[in-house]
Amino acid sequence: MEIRRFGVVGAGTMGAGIAQVAAQAGFDVALVDVAPAALERGLAAIDKSLDRLVAKGKLDAAARDAARGRIAHGTALEALADRQLVVEAVVERLEVKREVLSALDRLLAPEALLATNTSSISITKLAAATGRADRVIGMHFMNPVPVMQLVEIIRGLQTSQATYDAVEAATRRLGKTPVEVHDSPGFVSNRVLMPMINEAIYCLYEGVGRPEAIDEVMRLGMNHPMGPLALADLIGLDVCLDILRVLHEGLGDPKYRPCPLLVKMVDAGYLGRKSGRGFHDYAAAG
Ligand code: CAA
Repeated sequence: MEIRRFGVVGAGTMGAGIAQVAAQAGFDVALVDVAPAALERGLAAIDKSLDRLVAKGKLDAAARDAARGRIAHGTALEALADRQLVVEAVVERLEVKREVLSALDRLLAPEALLATNTSSISITKLAAATGRADRVIGMHFMNPVPVMQLVEIIRGLQTSQATYDAVEAATRRLGKTPVEVHDSPGFVSNRVLMPMINEAIYCLYEGVGRPEAIDEVMRLGMNHPMGPLALADLIGLDVCLDILRVLHEGLGDPKYRPCPLLVKMVDAGYLGRKSGRGFHDYAAAG
């Protein structure tokens, strides 16, 4: 099946980025978020990102307007009823994702495909919430979506070859590079990334270095584009904690135990860039 009608549910950082990239690639896009304020924020983020590309001379104004014109939006899941592929990008909680996937399953045509942008939860488990486990797959985008090249593609136990082939082709049409990995907690990306971020937080917790020093060591010493604490702030500290908990529970190894400082930061509402404060202070930086 060649996919033309693309849907995204959840207009947060990831969902908005996915909708933008799909629209730029020429797909007919529908973006849904049940919370009107979240939808507005997502659309504003898309406008800002497209404007940034125009300002940098990477996109002309006509292409920006055409891309924006390809994004229909709404607050009711019904707006996705005619989609051939819907990417679920709601909060990283098993029960919420299962509920959304089950509702989409009831709504979509039988041949439509369901992808989840989960960053750690089992695709097999999520697919079981639907009556179409052969047409459910993991499509894990990286933040910021318009910039990052990778999409991890993860088959659940029952995902069919036809589903895999259609989603791999759609990923290439998005201008991204699909890399297949197996269904295991955190896949490859977060299995490797989160322990590094957690260890950086332990360094701070144990007083091995200041946040600036820890980040500078990894930027200047390992050529990472940003330090692990700044990256955690970009991803969202609540998201990092959710993923570490999935790794800890799913793999059963104490090495994935979230650092107590991360738990405390999330309890305090310090969630990173989105709340204005994480390991670094964004409000002060404007
Ligand atoms: N939309 C469009 N373009 C954007 C953008 C956005 N939201 N954010 C950055 N860009 C563009 C900029 O316009 C700029 O373009 P040019 O090269 O043409 O100038 C380029 O990206 C670099 O941006 P900046 O110059 O503003 O800043 P930078 O050089 O510090 O790069 C960064 C910013 C791309 C975020 C870079 O620091 C980076 O790659 N960081 C690591 C990101 C990363 O590791 N992401 C994965 C997180 S893990 C994940 O997402 C998975 C998960 O499940 C948690």
